[in-house]
Amino acid sequence: MSDALAVIRRSLEEQLAELRGVPASELPPALLDVTVRRIELAGGDAFALLPRDWEQLRHEEGGAGRPVPYWARLWPSGLALATALAGSPPAAGARVLELGCGLGLPSVVAGRAGARVLATDGAVDAVVFSAHAMALNEVLADVAQVDWSAHGDALAARGPWDLVLAADVLYTAQNVEAALRLLPRLVGPSGEIRLADPGRAGARDFVAAARATFHVESEASGEITLHRLRPRHG
Ligand SMILES: C[S@@+](CC[C@H](N)C(=O)[O-])C[C@H]1O[C@@H](n2cnc3c(N)ncnc32)[C@H](O)[C@@H]1O
Repeated sequence: MSDALAVIRRSLEEQLAELRGVPASELPPALLDVTVRRIELAGGDAFALLPRDWEQLRHEEGGAGRPVPYWARLWPSGLALATALAGSPPAAGARVLELGCGLGLPSVVAGRAGARVLATDGAVDAVVFSAHAMALNEVLADVAQVDWSAHGDALAARGPWDLVLAADVLYTAQNVEAALRLLPRLVGPSGEIRLADPGRAGARDFVAAARATFHVESEASGEITLHRLRPRHG
């Protein structure tokens, strides 16, 4: 392990133990066995920080009765959204919110463009990894643990956001219903929502229902569909 990775690992260990409220010795070993992946993007490469062996992490978390660590992979939707954003980034100073950020790659790209970013996820581990991803990419951004299906009011109160990002989060009926209620409250009349999805039924239901409130433009990028939603007026 390089010196830099050893420093990152120690910092992760400290923060994960504190936020989980457990001694470092109780953290799953696969959570701290991390790697950095270089992602080629328009405007410059970005770096993702992630557990090296997701299956092993899932196994260890499952053995401890903890949920599947969906946050801990670089999902194709997150990559597609980051790639699309790198091609058409938000304006410097734009207020950007990411929901279900996982490892935080789209937020890194938005932050690199000079946007003021809040990256959120319901999983505390995701928030810790995203904070480290920002540092690794020399991006200034805020991160917060937020389950938006339960605590959307707090996000709406900090709005309106110029841009809301979400990649592959519409995989439960609860999330679809919450998104339909919450997203219109997050953006102002000139705001925009950018979603990436791998063709899940939940996302299809969401987009069909969201057309009542938003103009929706959808574009395929390989197996991922990118949706841009803008509020209808009047
Ligand atoms: C399939 S992963 C996608 C992660 C990342 N966006 C990507 O595409 O690589 C789904 C992510 O959404 C988060 N998530 C799902 N439902 C959520 C909710 N209601 N509130 C906050 N985060 C949520 C999970 O913790 C996980 O990080």
